[in-house]
Amino acid sequence: MQPVKIGILGLGTVGGGTVEVLIKNSTEIAARTGRDIVIHSVANLDDKCLKKLKLSTVKFSKDVFDVINDSQIDIIVELIGGTDLAKKCVIGALEAGKHIVTANKALIAIHGNEIFSLAQKKGLTVSFEAAVAGGIPIIKAMREGLSANKILSIAGIINGTGNFILSKMAEENVKFADALKQAQDLGYAESDPTFDVEGIDAAHKLCIMSSIAFGIKLQFDKVYTEGISAIKPDDVKHAKQLGYVIKHLGIAKQDKNGVQMRVHPTLIPDNKLLSNVDGVMNAVLIQSDALGESLYYGAGAGAHPTASAVVADIIDVARVLTSDPKNRVPHLAFQPNKLQNTTILAIEQITSSYYINLQVIDEAGVLAQISKILSDKNISIEAVIQHDTKNPQPQVPLIILTRQVKERFMDEALTKIAKLSTVHSYNRIRCEQLGD
Ligand code: HSE
Repeated sequence: MQPVKIGILGLGTVGGGTVEVLIKNSTEIAARTGRDIVIHSVANLDDKCLKKLKLSTVKFSKDVFDVINDSQIDIIVELIGGTDLAKKCVIGALEAGKHIVTANKALIAIHGNEIFSLAQKKGLTVSFEAAVAGGIPIIKAMREGLSANKILSIAGIINGTGNFILSKMAEENVKFADALKQAQDLGYAESDPTFDVEGIDAAHKLCIMSSIAFGIKLQFDKVYTEGISAIKPDDVKHAKQLGYVIKHLGIAKQDKNGVQMRVHPTLIPDNKLLSNVDGVMNAVLIQSDALGESLYYGAGAGAHPTASAVVADIIDVARVLTSDPKNRVPHLAFQPNKLQNTTILAIEQITSSYYINLQVIDEAGVLAQISKILSDKNISIEAVIQHDTKNPQPQVPLIILTRQVKERFMDEALTKIAKLSTVHSYNRIRCEQLGD
């Protein structure tokens, strides 16, 4: 068979890794695909890396549209990131009749509905395995491996940088800012780490997984997103005393009321597999009705782990080039005309238990005042920790772990608690039991 010709846009970390994996494993890849995969042309801001990547004989341009409009190319591999130029490239390539492989989670989460609709009209495929959890084949697992199941919930550690920071805070009792500095020094976090630590990167990934799980359109703007920058070493310590660890989770669930999609710091029991996922590793826990619980673990970032997913997508697209578009796996797992308008729940409508860290005046009756407000809202207390009355500070920490309650009632209770003259400040973290 004729070789499949690909054009790669962007030769950064993931683009470079993709070239290396394609070259290193070319024999196995061709044997699996049934034909050779040839890098026909590449576009990058400069040509400095071409020699190192053994691309000196490959067509090169600084203009992505030279590659996109090259009539010899079957598949465009978009690895430039961002949403502006990347969107123009993907739309332009689809208009030019090219299949797409991309690692771009922001692009898919924000513009995926429009992109998939155009691809469907053109009978083309857009593959995006590397957009979620790096090298873990989670899209394939959910879209194909679990296609017999009704998916009930997803809970994932889907940002390696954030997980590295929380792991360091737990292991070394360091502050958030110091752990972030270590992540930056090791090259995990971006110099502007907002997307990682404020949960935006995880929200992109959760949005994509939720659509595939529940058969809904991509709705990034409806993902509730809260970062980890307010977590204190004391929270990590108190969580440990209560038998929990703090993880930055992406959580999506569907019940009779609708779908919830949320990214926030979360206390999870310390005996769960997810609580032992440390450092930059990612993991996704899925509850589905036929299989039950399944866990997917691996490297969520890095040149070769991400290239593993990119190249697997290239192979998949190469295999279906000649197949009837109607018989291909749908982009979002469900046939486009079967996507549902399921209600997406606001964060006030979810039910959770809560860890509350209150800074209170150390005097008689404070706990009674707070428990009265909680009990008036029918909020039951699971555990209380009151420490260190010898503390020279005027306030002492009072830690309360509640049972499950609707978030709206918790909000109302906390608004009243915050008005007590004996309460200086508080923070709260949601808590999940993660199944049995
Ligand atoms: N910045 C991401 C992370 C990697 O830290 O997990 C790519 O998604």
